Parts: sequence; C-alpha cells; structure tokens
Amino acid sequence: MQERDTKIKVFPDDFHWGVATSAFQLEGSPNADWATWDPALIRIPHITNHYSMFREDLKLLKELGVNAYRFSLEWSRIQPSEFTWDEEAIEHYQEIINILRSYHIEPMVTLHHFTHPRWFIDRHPWHRSTSIEKYLRYTEMMVSTLRDVRYWITFNEPYVILIGGYLDGCTPPGLRDVPRSLVALKHIFTCHGKAYDIIHNYVPDARVSVAHNMSVFAPWKTWNPLDRILKKTANYFYNHSIINAFLTGVFIVKFPFSRPVEIEVPIKDKLDFFGVNYYTRIHLRFNPLKKMGVELRHLDIEGLGLTNLGWEIHPRGLAKVLRYASRLNLPLIITENGIASYDTEDKVKYMKRHVDVVERCLKEGLNVRGYYYWTLIDNYEWLQGLDARFGLYRVDFNTLKRTPTSAASYYSYLIQSRSRM
Ligand code: GAL
Repeated sequence: MQERDTKIKVFPDDFHWGVATSAFQLEGSPNADWATWDPALIRIPHITNHYSMFREDLKLLKELGVNAYRFSLEWSRIQPSEFTWDEEAIEHYQEIINILRSYHIEPMVTLHHFTHPRWFIDRHPWHRSTSIEKYLRYTEMMVSTLRDVRYWITFNEPYVILIGGYLDGCTPPGLRDVPRSLVALKHIFTCHGKAYDIIHNYVPDARVSVAHNMSVFAPWKTWNPLDRILKKTANYFYNHSIINAFLTGVFIVKFPFSRPVEIEVPIKDKLDFFGVNYYTRIHLRFNPLKKMGVELRHLDIEGLGLTNLGWEIHPRGLAKVLRYASRLNLPLIITENGIASYDTEDKVKYMKRHVDVVERCLKEGLNVRGYYYWTLIDNYEWLQGLDARFGLYRVDFNTLKRTPTSAASYYSYLIQSRSRM
C-alpha cells in the first residue's frame, strides 16, 4: 500500500516511532505466576526463546528503522525468590538497553507487565498492604541499577490487572471480589505515585507514566436505555475515572446500580506523559444472566472487519480516546496499537488507518508524541496462546524462525515517509 508523498510535515521530528513488547510474552519465565497459571505453557516454556535470541531480535528493530522501543523487565527473573536478586538477569536487561542506545533507539521500560514472581502473588498479592513495599523495593533496585533509561512505565494496564485478577478471575490471583479489587486498586496506584518519586530521585529528567488500556464503548441497541446506561458507566470507569484520579488524587468508582466509592491515592500530577493502549470498540448489553449484568460483544458495524481475536477494527475510536486523554494536558504516547491477524495485508491496513488517525489528531492540535506498534514478533497472547499473530515478523514456534511480513516493510515505509513529510 504505497502512496504519493505530497503532504506537509505533520509529525514532529522527535516523534517516537516504536514497537512495544513484553518480556513474558516473548520469553516466559520459570518463576512467574503465569508460568503455572496457563498449563499450555508447560509445553513451550520459552515461547519465542527471545531471552536467548534477543540480540538478533533487536537487530529487527534496526531493520525496521524505529527510533523507540518499549519492552518490559520480567520481575520474576530479576527477583526469583523474595530475598534474592539475580545479577545476571539484571545485566541481561542492561545489555538490551546498551544495544538499543548503540542503535540510537530510545528505550521505554515497563516495570510491571501483568506477570509477578510466584512468591509475590502467593504471599503479597495486590490486596495486601505488603505488596506496596515489595513493588517499590523492586522499582528502586531497577532504577538505581539500570543506566540510560529515561522513559518508564510503572504499570501496564492497571485496570486490566484489576479486572482480570479481582473481578473476572481469569488472571492471577484469580479472585472475584469487589471489595478486594478496590483495596488492590488503592495499592497499585499508591505504588505508581511513590514509584514516580523514586524514579525522579534517581533520574531527574525521567518521563514516567502508566500504559492505560482505553476503549470506545457503545450500547448494543441504541434504543435500549439499560444498554445506554452501561455504555455510560463503562466509559466513565474505563476511560475517565483514571484521568480524573491523576488530576485530583481521588478515584471515584461507580459500579452499575450501586453507590459510588471514593478512594484517595497519591497520584495527583504524578505523570510526565500519558501512555494509551488502544485496540478496539466494545458493544455492551444489559443481561442479568451475565457477570455483573453485562454482556460484551464486538460488532463489525463499519465493515472494517474483526481481528483474529474477534475484536472490531475501529480506527476512529483512537481519536476519541486521545481526545479524552488530552484533558490531562500532557504529551500523549500511544504505547500499544496493533492487530492479531494471519493476513498481513489486514495488518498493513490496520496500521495505516490508525496512523492516519494519529496524523489527523496532530492536525487537530492534540499533543501526540509517539506511536508504538504492538508487536515486533509473534508472541504468546495471555488468554489465547500462540494463535493471535500480532507480530510484524512471523514466528514459526517449532523452528523459532522469524520471517518478516509485508507489514514490517510497510511500517518502515510509513516511518520514513511520515518523518519526512
Ligand atoms: C494489551 C496488553 C498486551 C497484549 C495486547 C494484545 O492489552 O498490554 O500485553 O497482550 O493487549 O492483546
């Protein structure tokens, strides 16, 4: 999908053109809670074997021509038991940073991307107050040891951690417990606020954020007032309550048909930019037979199709959530956006459509400073295993061979042409 370069320059020179990954999804870890959570991983514990093949995978970044790379540290490799730190693992991640720097690629480091050391989730899960001290100790160890990192993400998708771990129960610690979810929320965001200060102590010019998953919500049937209430509630909770909390230091959580709860958290102004992960739009229907009375659906309303995971492709929604996030008055970075598909032409179209939306947002005056495509190579998807196929490079999970898809060369072309224009 080539095009004529006739437009004027819209993307700033220092715009981050990146790709995003997470450690566990590429390399597994024997000491992570997830390693035993999903029995399928017993057959393929090293997943893509990135932990050994990282040098050649980082070369792919160079080949793509990105100037930024978001990756995570696997906490369970670094602190395999409560009182031991693995120097080699820390050195491993430092080597990644050094290689990136030698390629002139800006590292963005995620401290927590869903997985935990098993000892943490067993003894100090997020609803216990000891979780705070454990996370902050790990954070301080990382920030005081790793060199040459300016961009830090304290938590990937804190709401997804809470929904999966405390409401839906599909991720560790596997609870369905609303009161505990609220305690866990307080602890996770307390960690963010305190980690923000710790990171700035060691790295004065650091840029710190969370990567927040944002979605567009719509009523399943627009004529149904209950579906419309659900849409409003979900949109408030998922997209706006976190923005409000960063502005005020208070979370106001409103579950459908119950009284709002206020939770104070030390996060007011503890952000240097805002990381937005955006993938899709979700339709909601009131259904008393479903958990919390809500049924979720993906409908292909605009005819752009559904992804391998059945998610609606809805590029316009990216503009919507960026507008919501602009209330923070901070630089916005799209820390994840991508499509699961075996069809690489679909991948090209998805990427083009979303980058076009970013371009329109820039023209509209939104302060967007980066776009990170999810993801570099095919990986392990949390609830769906190895079939999701988000990679710019295809991985054969038997031979571990990486092969570029046409989306990889298209991304290189996009980066070059948009940086010039
Ligand atoms: C995000 C998550 C990633 C990846 C992606 C695709 O929510 O941060 O780890 O799994 O979704 O589903």
